[in-house]
Amino acid sequence: MTQELWSQVDDYLGEVFVPADPALDAAVKASRAAGLPEIAVAPNQGKLLNLLARLAGARSILEIGTLGGYSTIWLARALPADGRLITLEFDPKHAEVAKGNIAAAGLGDVVEVRIGAALDTLPSVEGPFDMVFIDADKINLPHYFEWALRLTKPGSLIVIDNVIRKGAVVDPTSTDPAVIGVRALNELIAAEPRVDATSLQTVGAKGHDGLTIALVV
Ligand code: SAH
Ligand code: DHB
Ligand code: MG
Repeated sequence: MTQELWSQVDDYLGEVFVPADPALDAAVKASRAAGLPEIAVAPNQGKLLNLLARLAGARSILEIGTLGGYSTIWLARALPADGRLITLEFDPKHAEVAKGNIAAAGLGDVVEVRIGAALDTLPSVEGPFDMVFIDADKINLPHYFEWALRLTKPGSLIVIDNVIRKGAVVDPTSTDPAVIGVRALNELIAAEPRVDATSLQTVGAKGHDGLTIALVV
């Protein structure tokens, strides 16, 4: 019952705040047709990422975890014409689908998709970035956060997806790698003087989860 209602509300919010969009709709369709997992951010979350990037005045964005490029398109659209976005993806098939979706959205010149495990590709990524969106495997969250700090500057924004995991994050004895990753990330953030951060739990089409926002100070 609750999930059904959360999804209905997300559908309603999508109708009100996120008009039908040919490029984004095509990206969802192509990703589904290619058999990609349906774990992209929801439309209202994609729009939140777009608004955050614009609020941050972002001219450069780093994304870790591309999938089919749905969040990438939302983020890249927030950039000025001479902006740049680098997105890191482990799975070559996901990266191919994403490249097609990004090109079809007219963003092929702004976005660069780099294939490989992010911890292997990050050392050759050149910052600084105005915004980093972390949305790949969760066990490596602490490493991705350390990289995000290295690749940003004061005023930059770091956003991290999937930090609540149906509430499982409250369990210090959890053996779920995602929960272990999120809890280790939270300890890092709490002890890190270079960021001011908060975390919000969300419900919606994607269940009970949440996101963390950290401002580099
Ligand atoms: N940001 C996307 C969703 C990303 S899903 C959106 O909202 O539209 C997570 C993605 O991270 C998957 O495509 C997965 O293949 C990728 N991934 C998993 N482990 C990774 C790693 N070690 N390095 C880079 N990408 C990884
Ligand atoms: C998963 C990953 C995501 O990035 C997400 O938004 C939802 C689920 C997952 O790996 O289960
Ligand atoms: Mg996610």
